[in-house]
Amino acid sequence: MSILITGGGSGIGAGTAQYLVGRGARVTICGRRADRIDSIASELGSACLAIAGDITRHEDRSLIVEASVTHGGKLDALINNAGNMYRGSLADLDEQSLIDVFRTNVIAGMLLTGLCEEHLAATEGSVVFLGSIHTRRAFPAVSPYAATKGAIEALTRSLAAELGPRKIRVNCVAPGAVFTEINQRAGLATDEEALARLNGMRNMHALGRIGTIEEVAEAIAYFITAEWTTGTVLEVDGGLALGTTRDSP
Ligand SMILES: NC(=O)c1ccc[n+]([C@@H]2O[C@H](COP(=O)([O-])OP(=O)(O)OC[C@H]3O[C@@H](n4cnc5c(N)ncnc54)[C@H](OP(=O)(O)O)[C@@H]3O)[C@@H](O)[C@H]2O)c1
Repeated sequence: MSILITGGGSGIGAGTAQYLVGRGARVTICGRRADRIDSIASELGSACLAIAGDITRHEDRSLIVEASVTHGGKLDALINNAGNMYRGSLADLDEQSLIDVFRTNVIAGMLLTGLCEEHLAATEGSVVFLGSIHTRRAFPAVSPYAATKGAIEALTRSLAAELGPRKIRVNCVAPGAVFTEINQRAGLATDEEALARLNGMRNMHALGRIGTIEEVAEAIAYFITAEWTTGTVLEVDGGLALGTTRDSP
């Protein structure tokens, strides 16, 4: 299998690269911080190729896709994982920041999927988007991020309908709370604060804990091989979307 993962220098992207390389795939990862993706690739060995690039830039998208096809000899799956957090109260939102988060979280993945279409048609491959539990449970002051993830779910269904006749499947994993860098990169918290905040949500999960990166990677891997599944959003969230609390009567 040849797999391209955007945002592979940390968090779910890096963990998914590790999971898939461990199961025999050839994986290409990209990200803007060359040092981060190079370090993951050197840990994973020659099956993992790191290409520095920004998926909001057309030239970088083309280079990343071509490099992944060369590295893997073909392309079986595109994992549209790269994403950024932008949150804030409505009155404080900044137009350019809104545009930036939509460009990374939504538009870049759409355009990358288009660039990969011929390669994926050749392998009857698949696309996996990363959604979020923010489309299932509403929290105040997260509207920009939640709106991008709502768009991703719409895209998943729409592109599944469009690409199905070419035997390309399109699905979405919607994780609950998982400790990664996403809030820290946005300047919203230190590692300690981010972990404490997520652990503070434990009782909102039916299973009483936040998730692990590997648990999200498993779901992504499932979609890569699920040959009769398309247009689906899979919640991998320990029951967070149920809206229950463990203290409920
Ligand atoms: N963690 C959670 O609880 C959670 C829950 C639901 C959904 N998700 C989703 O899961 C995905 C992965 O996030 P994560 O939690 O693993 O966060 P993360 O550790 O911050 O990883 C995101 C990666 O995306 C890369 N990236 C951002 N903008 C990029 C761009 N323009 N071009 C290329 N790469 C870019 C970042 O690297 P550079 O900055 O070096 O480019 C970073 O390594 C995201 O789509 C996120 O929305 C996460």
